[in-house]
Amino acid sequence: MAFDFRYATIDDIESIAAIELASMSNPWKADAYQEAVGSDHAFVMVAEQGGKIAGFAVFYLTPPESELPDIVVSQEYRGQGLGRMLLTHCFEELRAKSIETIFLEVRVSNAPARALYEHLGFESIGTRKYFYSNPTEDALCMRIDI
Ligand SMILES: CC(C)(COP(=O)(O)OP(=O)(O)OC[C@H]1O[C@@H](n2cnc3c(N)ncnc32)[C@H](O)[C@@H]1OP(=O)(O)O)[C@@H](O)C(=O)NCCC(=O)NCCS
Repeated sequence: MAFDFRYATIDDIESIAAIELASMSNPWKADAYQEAVGSDHAFVMVAEQGGKIAGFAVFYLTPPESELPDIVVSQEYRGQGLGRMLLTHCFEELRAKSIETIFLEVRVSNAPARALYEHLGFESIGTRKYFYSNPTEDALCMRIDI
């Protein structure tokens, strides 16, 4: 079954925050999503299947640059190419918003996320020591020109 992609609204925040809570060791709270959904300098893209949110991505916009601070695919939908499809769709939206480069940080141990980013063409540009807590870990910094 295919996925639909659309911008998140305030009504999606409860579902998004629940997916985040189930997946991340330092989960974003609902108010952080509320801020991103309501901002001209950010967006939240959701992927849906049969009306159920399967994943989402948050982007901060400072044209011509953007940052990807949060992306999660719900556990039951992982490994089906959704992360790749979601980001590929977001790249189209970002190009239309005059974004040329995307930056992100990822835990060095997060093999699935690193694979996703590397397979899309992100390149490593350095590390940030002890960037993450719970547990403490270095971040790999990555960028892609779109
Ligand atoms: C990272 C995440 C979004 C990937 O979503 P996904 O829908 O499972 O990823 P996809 O199925 O689109 O896979 C994309 C690529 O990554 C690779 N990949 C995915 N999961 C992998 C895993 N567990 N191990 C190795 N490679 C993996 C796939 O092989 C695929 O490569 P390909 O496109 O060349 O075939 C998902 O695992 C997730 O939500 N993780 C928890 C939240 C998180 O860590 N977010 C990132 C924070 S920086």
